[in-house]
Amino acid sequence: MLVNIEVDLKMKRKLVVLVTGTPCVGKTSVSRMLASKLNAVHIDLAEIVKNEGLYVEMDSERGTLVADMEKLSKRIEEIVEETDKTVIIDGHYAMHVVSPENVNYIFVLRKNPKKLRIEMEKRGYSGRKLWENLAAEILDVCLSDAVSICGVKKVCEIDTTNKNFHEVVKEIVEVLENKRVCRTGIVDWLGELEKEGTLKDYLKNEF
Ligand SMILES: Nc1ncnc2c1ncn2[C@@H]1O[C@H](COP(=O)(O)OP(=O)(O)O)[C@@H](O)[C@H]1O
Ligand SMILES: [Mg+2]
Repeated sequence: MLVNIEVDLKMKRKLVVLVTGTPCVGKTSVSRMLASKLNAVHIDLAEIVKNEGLYVEMDSERGTLVADMEKLSKRIEEIVEETDKTVIIDGHYAMHVVSPENVNYIFVLRKNPKKLRIEMEKRGYSGRKLWENLAAEILDVCLSDAVSICGVKKVCEIDTTNKNFHEVVKEIVEVLENKRVCRTGIVDWLGELEKEGTLKDYLKNEF
């Protein structure tokens, strides 16, 4: 009983939660569902950058907007300060827009590169944009950024391969409720691809 009360109290505390990971891994879908479950504010960085004009230029080669990191960080800080609710910040560079000391948890969503490639192709990724992002997943780029910026204790990796969004959200909530340990080092795509002899196909700098 006491434990439940403590959990309730903990969940009422305002948290700043980052959801990061390679594009197409499921960040926005998961964050939306998580926010509705926790009655939290969801900030999709790609959306806010576009809708509020917080960018410096268009990267025409990648078809993406280059965020104005200074303006974006200020805007995020404003939103976090103004609300009493937990804030979920969703984006592959989320760790670069909030001061690390203000972050409570950083969830890094992972997905097997074979499955991730299918999601990327469904969303129209091809050529350089496709291999660059797949290489980033294989080489743990978001994970190492998260760990180097926020410190390993706040970083929780979740393997989304073969899980639906509900299952991913459930894992995140369990970590927030202290019912599941928050850990890193749960996947090894380099090792897996090397073992099956396909690594060179993924890191060949072209598709
Ligand atoms: N675990 C999953 N189960 C079902 N669909 C997924 C899963 N992961 C990603 N997808 C699909 O991949 C696409 C990208 O998801 P999205 O939430 O926009 O990712 P992100 O915000 O990380 O780029 C969506 O079409 C989504 O339905
Ligand atoms: Mg997204």
